Amino acid sequence: MSSNYDNNGQYSRHSILRYEQIFGHGFVSSGGMKLTKSFCDRLTFSNNTRVLDIGSGLGGAAFYMAEKYGASVVGLDLSEVMIEIANERAKGISNVEFHLADVLTMDFEENSFDLIWSRDALLHIPQKAELFALLAKWLAPGGQIMISDYARSANKVSSDFQDYVDQSGYDLLDVETYGALLTEAGFQHVKNEDWSQQFMEVLRAEQNTLRHDREQFLQHFSHEDLDYLVERWERKIQFCLNGDMHTGLWHGK
Ligand SMILES: C[S@@+](CC[C@H](N)C(=O)[O-])C[C@H]1O[C@@H](n2cnc3c(N)ncnc32)[C@H](O)[C@@H]1O
Repeated sequence: MSSNYDNNGQYSRHSILRYEQIFGHGFVSSGGMKLTKSFCDRLTFSNNTRVLDIGSGLGGAAFYMAEKYGASVVGLDLSEVMIEIANERAKGISNVEFHLADVLTMDFEENSFDLIWSRDALLHIPQKAELFALLAKWLAPGGQIMISDYARSANKVSSDFQDYVDQSGYDLLDVETYGALLTEAGFQHVKNEDWSQQFMEVLRAEQNTLRHDREQFLQHFSHEDLDYLVERWERKIQFCLNGDMHTGLWHGK
């Protein structure tokens, strides 16, 4: 895959900074730091936990785990701009490194990591079974996996939602099927959590922040950018309300 992959323009520098404005510093996923902290609270960290962050984006979660828990974090992302910005921010921090790479092309040794983490990135990867087999190999015995991702209804979805998924280039599974794939790959005690309700609340809060801080937003971005984000968020809320769209959290060993 090309190294300047930007997912149909979704991750150009302008759009990344626009997304960061809504998600909070270091993040391009809903809930930003708040959810990262709450997901990390469920994990066990020891001294020097080796973490792989897949689709690490701007590195918000990697920096947090490195600083708060003393973890050694390797972040992978196939967006050149994400890695460029993350590396600018990583200067002087010894226990975080970011690499430009498609996770599917990586060849880590067995048992390389104690925690495999990914937030809202695997929606871009159709080859999930292939990926999970690799992750099972890279995770050390007793290690943990935590993935949050977009998901879909197990039933037939509306054509509007299907268009949104297709246009965004997403590959979505329902929450149970996703968890079953992880189990098939060899992960144990996989807990599937549908957190769509919480996701909707987060989307509403982010939408409100955007409306409330519109003057500040408009100092850096256009009215068109603002309308685009408010409308895109509204669309996601409606997809969640009508049951087409879900979000899942999967935690296993
Ligand atoms: C929605 S962003 C989330 C970024 C970050 N996890 C966060 O929470 O802020 C998804 C990221 O996954 C990356 N990504 C997509 N497919 C990937 C792949 N095959 N290998 C590595 N990174 C990938 C994208 O480039 C993008 O930066």
